[in-house]
Amino acid sequence: MKNRIDELVNLLNEANYNYYVLDKPTITDQEYDKYLRELIDLEERYPDLKREDSPSIRVGGEVIDSFNKIVHEIPMLSLSNVFNEEEILDFNQRVVKEAGEQEYVAELKIDGLSVSLLYEKGKLVRAATRGDGVTGEDITHNVKTIKSIPLTLKEPLDIEVRGEIYMSKKSFEKINQEKAKNNEELFANPRNAAAGSIRQLDSSIAAKRGLDSFLYHLPNAAKYGITTHYDALMFLKKLGFVVNPNIRKVKTVQELLEFIEYWTDKRDTLPYEIDGIVIKVNDLNNQERLGFTAKYPKWATAYKFPAQLVLTKLKDIIFSVGRTGQVTPNAVLEPVILMGSTISAATLHNEDYVKENDFRIGDIVAIKKAGDVIPEVVESIVERRTGDEIPFVMTKTCPICHSNLVRKESESAYYCVNPNCDAKRIEGLIHFVSRDAMNIEGFGDKIVEDFYNRGYLKYFSDYYILGNVKRELKELEGFGEKSISNLLDSIEDSKKRSLENLLFALGIRYVGKKTAKLLAMHYQTMDNLLNTDYDELVNIPDIGDAIAKSVEDTIHDNDFLKEIDLLKSHGLNMTYLGKKVNSNVMFADKTFVLTGSLSKLSRDEASLEIENRGGKTTSSVTKKTDVVIVGDKPGSKYDKAISLGITVWNEDEFINNLGM
Ligand code: IVH
Repeated sequence: MKNRIDELVNLLNEANYNYYVLDKPTITDQEYDKYLRELIDLEERYPDLKREDSPSIRVGGEVIDSFNKIVHEIPMLSLSNVFNEEEILDFNQRVVKEAGEQEYVAELKIDGLSVSLLYEKGKLVRAATRGDGVTGEDITHNVKTIKSIPLTLKEPLDIEVRGEIYMSKKSFEKINQEKAKNNEELFANPRNAAAGSIRQLDSSIAAKRGLDSFLYHLPNAAKYGITTHYDALMFLKKLGFVVNPNIRKVKTVQELLEFIEYWTDKRDTLPYEIDGIVIKVNDLNNQERLGFTAKYPKWATAYKFPAQLVLTKLKDIIFSVGRTGQVTPNAVLEPVILMGSTISAATLHNEDYVKENDFRIGDIVAIKKAGDVIPEVVESIVERRTGDEIPFVMTKTCPICHSNLVRKESESAYYCVNPNCDAKRIEGLIHFVSRDAMNIEGFGDKIVEDFYNRGYLKYFSDYYILGNVKRELKELEGFGEKSISNLLDSIEDSKKRSLENLLFALGIRYVGKKTAKLLAMHYQTMDNLLNTDYDELVNIPDIGDAIAKSVEDTIHDNDFLKEIDLLKSHGLNMTYLGKKVNSNVMFADKTFVLTGSLSKLSRDEASLEIENRGGKTTSSVTKKTDVVIVGDKPGSKYDKAISLGITVWNEDEFINNLGM
């Protein structure tokens, strides 16, 4: 029996390789299925004979409890970015200065997620995500379902290889169509879809997602007698991996620019998404000579394509009401696909923005999307007007409660000032439970709206008496004993939140997350805050006139005070639980800007640590900035810091200075 199992495994793996790697099918799908069924059947009858590299693994079925951490022996670095010709020339110059004129390899930058694959004696034994570059997660069970990744190499080597896992545009469309049919939330783009699929505990889900791979890096190439990156790619191909065919050796920057131009133009014809071009020094000795910075190899960089624009029709402009009562115009668009996401709506900010740009209903408009940023309507294509377009008129009444809107003198925004406007109340209640506010899990927007409409929720304090209608809630569609008790547990848990969460949750005008924190740190308790006045408020650094006025008005508002009393009576914590300021010379009274992503701390945690040492963080780099902390993929703030000569810390220096 072992012979037949071996025969089938080899036959199917070979067929897989021919189909997915060489793109030359040797057997029909029916034949493949027939052999696979025979194999699965034999494996069920003789489980001891099941091979580690059996193609039956591709169907999935392995379920893990949680993702194990994997430490990368050689860190998985990411790439520095360049955005234009000048920056490409600069990159080349830096390389030439260190290591002389170079031959480069130009490759497509696949928009997926990087993966490290480890083979022992030619068998795939482990696959890991990049994670923070040092520690990733074990995703072997899911990676084994990806048909273009060999379970057995053509040579029995101990080897680590790296590359990208991605989802084709076609698979992405198919999955989103299915999700739409089931009323599930859609994936925003193929990269998110690939990442979401690889982070599944049950491998049969990943198996159905049509994931694919390209390999592009061999960390220990010299060990195999290889001297150039190009040869490393050929070697990967020989071992049975898919290497992207659109690679080019270039001897001059001119050739490189041509390659970039070609793919900028042709990227849409590819069956998968790319977000740039990767440029790598070909000679491995020169790579070694150039070495690394803390984050990036100095021998490679990524040219990122500029934000893409697409044209579509502005079908309508509708109005929505936020929790502050601000009424904003929103574009209703003819759905278009832009950078892999289907876009059918975009904010138009406010009346002035629409008027200045003269967006008219019926216009053909250009939509822009840069990275993960929300899409924006950039301009109307005036040449495409037919004369039937309708000029924009800002509504003067609330779209929900129909009361007259008020335009604040200093702002371009209109507000619904009816305190009982349903839309405002619902938005306020949704905000109350959100993550940076009271962080009450289980309340989707729709649930809050539903509870409001049924009369279970009107004031914030009503969350804390939902237990009284437990029986009624359990009867609602989509709820049961378990989900209601989970909901009530998370409400109970939220009573422990620190004062700044509560202050932010209460939705006081101009009191965002940061101001809430400043107030909580300054006053320490709700009672102290309630006893303050304008003068004290305005003297707190970073609290200006508008905030001080708004807070002063609020703490004299009877409805607000009544609400606080109710919240107190329900047992909510009313004090600041963060650390007391522990002044540290590296941080005290200094202004910091964070750019790029940090691997050991979230941005919020980093800001908190800085504040706990007496410093503050702001969002833009100016002459007044003392230190810019640079994480992975820093943006233009980094360049600005350099040009202004401001001190720059990388993440390690930052962590060191924190004394963590
Ligand atoms: S080389 C040390 N080549 O882009 C070399 N990366 O922004 C490491 N990527 O983390 C990467 N296509 O996930 C390389 N042809 C390609 C790539 C590529 C996509 C991704 C990769 C990397 C990220 C950096």
